[in-house]
Amino acid sequence: MKHIYKKYIEHFNTNLLQCMVLGRGHNGVVYLLPDGKVIKVCFSEESCRGEYYILNKVNGNKYFPKVYGMNGNYMIRDYVGGICLRDYVKEYGFDRELALKVVSLLEEFDKLKFTKRDIRCKDIFVQPDGTLKVIDPKKCYSKERDFPRHLSKGFEKLGILDYFMEVVKEKRPKLYRRWFRKIREYIREISEEDD
Ligand SMILES: Nc1ncnc2c1ncn2[C@@H]1O[C@H](COP(=O)(O)OP(=O)(O)O)[C@@H](O)[C@H]1O
Ligand SMILES: [Mg+2]
Repeated sequence: MKHIYKKYIEHFNTNLLQCMVLGRGHNGVVYLLPDGKVIKVCFSEESCRGEYYILNKVNGNKYFPKVYGMNGNYMIRDYVGGICLRDYVKEYGFDRELALKVVSLLEEFDKLKFTKRDIRCKDIFVQPDGTLKVIDPKKCYSKERDFPRHLSKGFEKLGILDYFMEVVKEKRPKLYRRWFRKIREYIREISEEDD
């Protein structure tokens, strides 16, 4: 961990009280630091190590916030602006350009040799410049998942899955063939559960 972050570690609690909470999830709370970076304080050291391992491995990749270090149950990483894909789609809709950006993100998971080639809608952020970033990567190198299962569930809920798959079919026929049956099966399964 770099020297400049020592002050946050030494006077951790008092400093954090003055920081804005950016959000909280099942694993921790994320605060905005005065220098514009963020600190994620995890509820367990294990989940912190797991997430840090992934972010450190992909450090410098344009789709992920840079990490600067971790200590115990917390890590410092870059702030990601914009709004999550789910809220973005609800507000501004979904088009071909955005569909292709999501495809490129999933192709990046292949390049990074993730064993889990999946992501939740709420963990993709659309930044003000239109680029995408993943905020909360989990189990990318431990879980086996060869198609975007969570993502397709989210897209189905938003009513954009069929359109997304049309774009995939036209632009990436190979990917389409890899995903199509698995996605169809999975969507059928979850819709039967809902009945
Ligand atoms: N790098 C970041 N920049 C801006 N906001 C963030 C960042 N990381 C997380 N957040 C916000 O904090 C919330 C919780 O963080 P997240 O990493 O998803 O925690 P958890 O692992 O508990 O789900 C996110 O939903 C998001 O709103
Ligand atoms: Mg989360």
